[in-house]
Amino acid sequence: MDKDIYVLAVESSCDETAAAVVKNGRDVLSNVIYSQIALHTEYGGVVPEIASRKHIEKINQVIEQALLEAHKDLRQMDAIAVTYGPGLVGALLVGVSEAKAISFATGIPLVGVHHIEGHISANYIENKDLEPPFICLVVSGGHSHLVVVKEYGEYEIIGRTRDDAAGEAFDKVARAIGLGYPGGPKIDKISRQGNPDAIHFPRAKVGDAEYDFSFSGLKSAVLNYLNSCQMKGEEIVTEDVAASFQRAVIDVLVEHSIRAVKKYGCRKFAIAGGVASNSALREAFERECEKEGIAFYHPSPIYCTDNAAMIGTAAYYEFLKGVRHGFDLNAVPNLKLGERVL
Ligand code: KG4
Ligand code: ZN
Repeated sequence: MDKDIYVLAVESSCDETAAAVVKNGRDVLSNVIYSQIALHTEYGGVVPEIASRKHIEKINQVIEQALLEAHKDLRQMDAIAVTYGPGLVGALLVGVSEAKAISFATGIPLVGVHHIEGHISANYIENKDLEPPFICLVVSGGHSHLVVVKEYGEYEIIGRTRDDAAGEAFDKVARAIGLGYPGGPKIDKISRQGNPDAIHFPRAKVGDAEYDFSFSGLKSAVLNYLNSCQMKGEEIVTEDVAASFQRAVIDVLVEHSIRAVKKYGCRKFAIAGGVASNSALREAFERECEKEGIAFYHPSPIYCTDNAAMIGTAAYYEFLKGVRHGFDLNAVPNLKLGERVL
């Protein structure tokens, strides 16, 4: 490569205001994240209006910090990347408007990025040898997808959730057992003190689509278990409920993923999204992939949950393909993976 390519990336699709500078797609020079979690905790979940307002307050600061930490000037950037969907419309609009304004003022090209493409691309940051094709399980607060990554930017979704996303199930069960928001990390932590075989919760199968997921039945089973214990006056061991629920989610995710990798024959498997930072999930995949001779890739936890470095990485490969967006780029809250709105 003759010239280094620098991307300034912005992410504001949910409750993290983030900016990063990424060199040549895989070299993260800075990764600044302002997490709003503390603000939303008292409401038990993300409040969209609060998220948008906080993004407006923080976005300039976060971008300035990202450039400062990267020791780069805005004018040295080759592209301004921004998440334009899916996500909360008001939250997305803050990042999109900011990126368009910077692009308009400086003449630096604008590249809109799909949030899930960002999550998948987080795997490229620390795994310098990882190249498509591979299979990726994307498990976040809003999505559970099993994806064949055929080429950079080319995806085929072979499995998806029929109801709740995996992270959503973690958050709802955590609320039911009194752990609060966000539930995933809390269930992860207390499960280490619990017995995953203490309670048998169902592993849902979706009859007509072998790679699809369903987590709402599992969530209801946990709620029913809690109600029945309360009615019978039986003690609820929170750690055991958390560990048994987590085991049920992991069993289904592992089973579907390994079956897909075997069927598609690429022997490379990656995980992405907030739930991918779950320690028991990682251990289960490490074990199963080793047994099956499959190379297993995962990002560090900081690149699993929402961040802008992953958006910069995804944007780099789009930029190389010649993707540029105009100032009519808009937030698309329900953007589909593989769909490009130019
Ligand atoms: O990817 P992400 O930051 O945002 C979305 O794009 O949705 O994912 C957030 C989700 C939340 O549901 C959170 O509870 C879950 O990821 N999560 C976890 C863990 N860390 C975050 N779930 C299980 N175990 C964790 N350690
Ligand atoms: Zn996300």
